[in-house]
Amino acid sequence: MGRDEKMPRHVAIIMDGNGRWAERHGLKRVDGHRRGAGRVFELMETVAELGIEYLTLYAFSTENWKRSPLEVQALMELLEESLNAKLPLMMEKNVRLKTIGRTEDLWPGVRAALLKAVKVTADNTGGTLVLALNYGGRAEIVDAAGRIARAVARGELKPESIDEPCFRRFLYDPELPDPDLMIRTSGELRLSNFLLWQLSYAELYATDILWPDFDGTALKEAVAAFGRRERRFGGRKK
Ligand code: IPE
Ligand code: IPE
Ligand code: MG
Repeated sequence: MGRDEKMPRHVAIIMDGNGRWAERHGLKRVDGHRRGAGRVFELMETVAELGIEYLTLYAFSTENWKRSPLEVQALMELLEESLNAKLPLMMEKNVRLKTIGRTEDLWPGVRAALLKAVKVTADNTGGTLVLALNYGGRAEIVDAAGRIARAVARGELKPESIDEPCFRRFLYDPELPDPDLMIRTSGELRLSNFLLWQLSYAELYATDILWPDFDGTALKEAVAAFGRRERRFGGRKK
């Protein structure tokens, strides 16, 4: 028996709207980020219930360094704190943590907490949570092109053998299947440099809900909408 095609195997989310959530509640932007970070682990329950194997979350983009030093600092500190605090929960829930992005440029504390959590959870089998950190879709493609060029220069790869499956092996994590469903919260309708290669045939879903309010019910609604879509991948209707 194959997988139920009405259910996404891999869901990717642009977690947007923390700042607006804070503003609406008369709070500081960092309070919105704190509330948003809390959501991540609350959702893992629903992710498991729905049988979603991979959940990729856009947590910090290569462009987010443009924010005020105060906000960048708050985000870095919050990431480090959450990764450390939620490690026992990830172990309890059997969740494997992975990461994509130029993680070498994250603040050292975040990087250390991230590498530790990735290592400790590596053998967990209850679903994979992928955090996109200092991630940019263009950066990923450029990084892949650079690694391909070096492999060719070393004589390990022939230019004529570069096809799509080959290119994919040079992405940050070749093991990840393409997302079936991409959700963006807070009503914005743009990709903001997220998974440019991988989203080619993803179903897109936008909701006005701000990320700190996005709960299990909201995720179930998105997955139900996905189930009503007809995916054709350029071919004919089945
Ligand atoms: C998303 O919320 C979190 C990150 C990008 C780190 P925002 O901070 O972008 O919230 P808005 O878009 O300003 O409301
Ligand atoms: C995208 O949100 C990045 C993350 C959610 C991490 P942004 O809020 O940074 O995107 P723009 O600036 O609205 O395009
Ligand atoms: Mg935003």
